[in-house]
Amino acid sequence: MLKISLMSRRVLSSLGGTSNSSRWFSVQSIRHSKPRTAIVMLNMGGPQNTDQVHDYLHRIMTDRDMIQLPVQSKLGPWIAKRRTPEVQKKYSEIGGGSPILKWTNTQGELLVEQLDKASPETAPHKHYVAFRYVNPLTEDTMKEVEQDQPERVVLFSQYPQYSCATSGSSFNAIFSHYKDKSNGLSGAKWSVIDRWGSHPLLAKTFADNIRKELNKFPEDKRKDVILLFSAHSLPLKAVNRGDAYPTEIGATVQNVMQELLYCNPYCLVWQSKVGPLPWLEPFTEDAIKGYVKQGKKNFILIPIAFVNEHIETLHELDIEYCQELAHEVGAEKIGRAAAPNDHPLFIDALTDIVSNHLRNGHRVNPKFLLRCPACVNTKCLASKQWFQALCS
Ligand code: FES
Repeated sequence: MLKISLMSRRVLSSLGGTSNSSRWFSVQSIRHSKPRTAIVMLNMGGPQNTDQVHDYLHRIMTDRDMIQLPVQSKLGPWIAKRRTPEVQKKYSEIGGGSPILKWTNTQGELLVEQLDKASPETAPHKHYVAFRYVNPLTEDTMKEVEQDQPERVVLFSQYPQYSCATSGSSFNAIFSHYKDKSNGLSGAKWSVIDRWGSHPLLAKTFADNIRKELNKFPEDKRKDVILLFSAHSLPLKAVNRGDAYPTEIGATVQNVMQELLYCNPYCLVWQSKVGPLPWLEPFTEDAIKGYVKQGKKNFILIPIAFVNEHIETLHELDIEYCQELAHEVGAEKIGRAAAPNDHPLFIDALTDIVSNHLRNGHRVNPKFLLRCPACVNTKCLASKQWFQALCS
């Protein structure tokens, strides 16, 4: 197993951030042909190259769990086409593609290596990557899991904090995949890890990355650096429906600050708004401008909702805010804490979450089965009922 694992790591590193769909299949298939436990890592994904940008945007803009538009079947594709050149340019500026597949595979490989030791009774484990909007697509990955016929299937959201627009969309995609056909994994024991934003090792990971970034500031300025925890914003319509995301983000922020013994001033801010409707504020950009007007000069941005680097960290935070905005408003320094990526504490967090889940026998969080109080999405109703039956 060690040999296979090392070979797998070499293949991973040789792929870098430019894997194509046949390559990801090989990487996922290389570890164990017959796993006992499948760990399916759910995330939105990102284009591996600029040619994939249009299809990626098209899938996002036509996903009603992610975004609700009037006449979506027409308006969604139109917006995707119109935005493609601008988004392609951004990917070109960060090296041509998103590193999210590379990071998720690295995290998955390290996770299953540790899991085989932490939970030998459910070994061998194998990780699968299931993206919502690019290869490896969730539906294709579930077919690969079916071919392997594991005894257990753990659906593991890679969004630490739950939102119906992100985690919910991935789970609904699995429901949609199976709702009209027989489940080729009906003999397996299924379970769900839907949220883990309050895990102490996640807080320790972020705290460690923040300390490293703080140490890059001159000692006499360090204690005044403002920590801006930046999470992807959400339309207020979704917040008012009762989406759990804002409160769960807040819980992660509090855990990190407790870990840091509240060493610095801090604020939770929101990034990446699109469209004209109201979203959660204050926006990251406006917060930086506002604090500079108040005479503050030094900041660290912390991507508190992202477990690996992608366009929102590498372009929006690093280029648009740390470089361009800092120059425009006259900030002294805007640093950025790394996403968890392959931080050893983060891999320990993933291992602890999954091994406890496998051990404790709880197959689904009751909160996951409860819809938002103002949910009007009939797919959510059918999906929750399906998961309840699946995990009972
Ligand atoms: Fe939250 Fe349907 S929108 S459960």
